[in-house]
Amino acid sequence: MKNVALLGTGFIASVHLEGWKRLSNAEVVAVYEPDDKAAAAFHRKYPAIPRYKSFSLLLEEKNEVDVVDVCLPTFLHREYTEEACAAGKHVLCEKPMALTVDDAEAMANAARRHGVELMVGHALRFWGEYVRARELVMEGVIGEVLSLSARRLALTPDWSVSGWILDPCYSGGAVLDLHIHDLDFANWVCGKPEKIFAQGARGPRGGWDHACTTVCYPGGAVAHVEGGWLMQGDFPFTMGFCILGSEGILEWEFRSGVNIEERGASNPLFLYRQGKEKREIPVSTEDAYNSEIAYFTSCLENKRAVESATAEDGLAAVRTALAARRSMETGELVKM
Ligand SMILES: NC(=O)c1ccc[n+]([C@@H]2O[C@H](COP(=O)([O-])OP(=O)(O)OC[C@H]3O[C@@H](n4cnc5c(N)ncnc54)[C@H](O)[C@@H]3O)[C@@H](O)[C@H]2O)c1
Repeated sequence: MKNVALLGTGFIASVHLEGWKRLSNAEVVAVYEPDDKAAAAFHRKYPAIPRYKSFSLLLEEKNEVDVVDVCLPTFLHREYTEEACAAGKHVLCEKPMALTVDDAEAMANAARRHGVELMVGHALRFWGEYVRARELVMEGVIGEVLSLSARRLALTPDWSVSGWILDPCYSGGAVLDLHIHDLDFANWVCGKPEKIFAQGARGPRGGWDHACTTVCYPGGAVAHVEGGWLMQGDFPFTMGFCILGSEGILEWEFRSGVNIEERGASNPLFLYRQGKEKREIPVSTEDAYNSEIAYFTSCLENKRAVESATAEDGLAAVRTALAARRSMETGELVKM
């Protein structure tokens, strides 16, 4: 049984809480929420979960906590992860791991030093279509990967507590907050980036809020990734990918709602091959966030090291997104 402290009660914390509630071998025993209004709303929904205004006090009083789930704004990830690791707690930290490579490295080091597991919430690594597509690539079903395109297009987020997400100093802008999902997916499929070139557009607060990034990988595979939150009007939340291999193509696209709240209703993943009929590929329909939380809990329960969405993966994703940002700022190709 794992006792969990949930940090934050905002958008992604609510998604995680549902994931924790589904498990019989984990329980959220405390929540850290400094904002009184947010805490009151949370208490109305979950009156049995004690709320703390101070994380240090939570750690002091709730000694039974095994896991800290960091669902706080990105600029706070390092501070709270380091404090949790120092207290000997395992950490699930939302993506992006941090705003800088230094911060992400410090978090990975803290976990190593204190002998705890640190997993980063790169949910696409648990998302049915992305998982199955990568498995098929690894099995060689489409031959050698020549190119991967992926996109993630959203309206400007207006739900974040105190609007922190719109300030690039706190969120890193859409390139770190949103685009990073697909950069991580490209790295997961293609390996370690070699060269990165990106062009983009800044949003009203000066952050890079729309990005078109080209990532070159050893062996010749290239990824074209587009993402941002400058979409307007009723433009539906859009995400998808197309992986072109020497012997086939995997393609998936999803369009719905304004965020990912309608993620249950999805299109099929298709496999195309020369001389063969287009094939619909069955995928897991389990919610990615639930799967991610169940996987982390099972690693801890079975004393197995986390192997998916590791701190190293989170760090590589931050490096890639920051290289894309540097390229947009300088107009130059960034060699990794
Ligand atoms: N994996 C995903 O698909 C996904 C989706 C959304 C968000 N996220 C990530 O999760 C993290 C949280 O995002 P969110 O959308 O839940 O944010 P949110 O604004 O909805 O919630 C933030 C929470 O942190 C609390 N908080 C504590 N200190 C704060 C401070 N100084 N300023 C503002 N809020 C403070 C807020 O009260 C709130 O409970 C971010 O890193 C974000 O990038 C990941």
